[in-house]
Amino acid sequence: MIIVLFGAPGVGKGTVAEILCRRYGIPHVSTGDILRTHIAKKTEAGEKIREFVDAGFLVPDEIVTEVVRDRVGKTDCAKGFLLDGFPRTVEQARELDKIAAERGEKIHVFNIDVPEDVIVRRLCARRICPKCGAIYNLEFRPPKKDMLCDCCGAALAHRHDDRDEIIKVRLREYGKMTKPVLDYYGKKGMAAHASGLYSEEVINKIVGVLEKK
Ligand code: AP5
Ligand code: MG
Repeated sequence: MIIVLFGAPGVGKGTVAEILCRRYGIPHVSTGDILRTHIAKKTEAGEKIREFVDAGFLVPDEIVTEVVRDRVGKTDCAKGFLLDGFPRTVEQARELDKIAAERGEKIHVFNIDVPEDVIVRRLCARRICPKCGAIYNLEFRPPKKDMLCDCCGAALAHRHDDRDEIIKVRLREYGKMTKPVLDYYGKKGMAAHASGLYSEEVINKIVGVLEKK
């Protein structure tokens, strides 16, 4: 099973992914998280990746597809995985089709939709745990102790790209480069849609569709 969580920045892909991956016992493959790890570890590709991520632009397809191929080739992905943030261009969607065909697996695409004003509000108030990756929101899902992670106690961080001017660039990139991927899947009759205003509703919708299949 290959699950794809699709949607603009801030629709809640990461939040919902954690719950679904626990439920189905499959790894959460977030391209954003992997790219940020390259930046933090200052790998060979890290410096180039930083230029794109920090400015809010998409990282070039060849870098991202290599990262994904490498990650999903690991043994923990043998029984399937959940993709969060990939594919984000039609070229990446074609590459995913090839990966699925090579593995003999089906792709299940779920598009999460949230109004843009809610997205901006969510992203400005998001904080993340740099140690364990837990996601918080100062407005909607605050940590129990001021600015400390509930799970591991680390000090929470503000993502560099969660600033007003960069959020605008990310949303523009989404409209220009990523939204066309929905047509690609729509034409193949592959995408289910869910409103992302309430995470529980998104999860119920996804679980309902998967269990029917
Ligand atoms: P990435 O890390 O994937 O960022 P994104 O797509 O912009 O998505 P976000 O992580 O911002 O949002 P999310 O949907 O995961 O929402 P979350 O659950 O955190 O990518 C970052 C960058 O990496 C890109 O800009 C690009 O440069 C590069 N990149 C990554 N993949 C790439 C690719 N395939 N190709 C090229 N470049 C790539 O929730 C957001 C906030 O809302 C949180 O605070 C959360 O607590 C809160 N929240 C969630 N659900 C709810 C709810 N129901 N009610 C209230 N608050 C909620
Ligand atoms: Mg995310």
